[in-house]
Amino acid sequence: MNLILLGPPGAGKGTQAKRLEEKFGIAQISTGDMLRAEVKSGSEIGREAKAIMESGGLVPDAIITAMLALRVARPDCAKGFILDGFPRTVPQAEALDVMLKEKGLALDHVIELKVDPAALVERIAGRFTCAACGTGYHDTFKPTIQAGVCDVCGGTEFVRRADDKAETVAARLEAYRLQTEPLLPYYQAQGKLKSVDGMADIDDVTRELEALLSRA
Ligand code: AP5
Repeated sequence: MNLILLGPPGAGKGTQAKRLEEKFGIAQISTGDMLRAEVKSGSEIGREAKAIMESGGLVPDAIITAMLALRVARPDCAKGFILDGFPRTVPQAEALDVMLKEKGLALDHVIELKVDPAALVERIAGRFTCAACGTGYHDTFKPTIQAGVCDVCGGTEFVRRADDKAETVAARLEAYRLQTEPLLPYYQAQGKLKSVDGMADIDDVTRELEALLSRA
């Protein structure tokens, strides 16, 4: 099963993709996580991407599609994948269509997490992750059970993303509106677009997604 989770920054794509990865045994592919790993490693891609990401803009299509092509060829994608943060522009979606066709694969679902833009800044500003294992939390919506201790690995150091500052979030939302929203009619025209209420509780969103994917 191959699917895309679409939605603006903070819609819950990463949160839900991790849960679906576990439930269905398919690989989560987050181009944002891949780029952050490149930045951390100091690679050429990372050096080019760093300033763009910190300004809230989009990394050039050619870099992203080349990265994605290598990623979907890895063995953990054999049973399928969940694209989280890709495609983000119509040229990326077109490149994905070509890539999948060449591999004899198809997209099974494109699911939009529908959210109220007014809620997104709070969601993003409250987000943090465990520095040791990467588990994601939120100050209000998903705090650690014991304050300051990761539920999963017991780690006590947490990090916040460099692009989660309020001014950068505004630029990211604008990039979504201008460059990524046109993907909704693109996939609607292919008859693949479905929507899920991304404003519901995290567990309810998961239930709705699992029901949708199990039905299909
Ligand atoms: P990326 O890492 O993809 O970030 P994003 O799309 O901005 O999405 P986020 O990770 O911010 O949000 P999310 O939807 O995953 O929400 P989450 O689950 O964390 O991209 C970062 C940058 O990399 C881009 O700006 C760009 O520069 C570059 N980039 C990446 N891909 C690219 C591409 N294809 N082309 C070009 N450039 C690219 O949830 C947010 C918070 O809300 C969490 O704390 C969570 O706990 C909470 N939450 C989630 N769901 C709910 C809920 N239902 N109720 C209450 N709280 C919730």
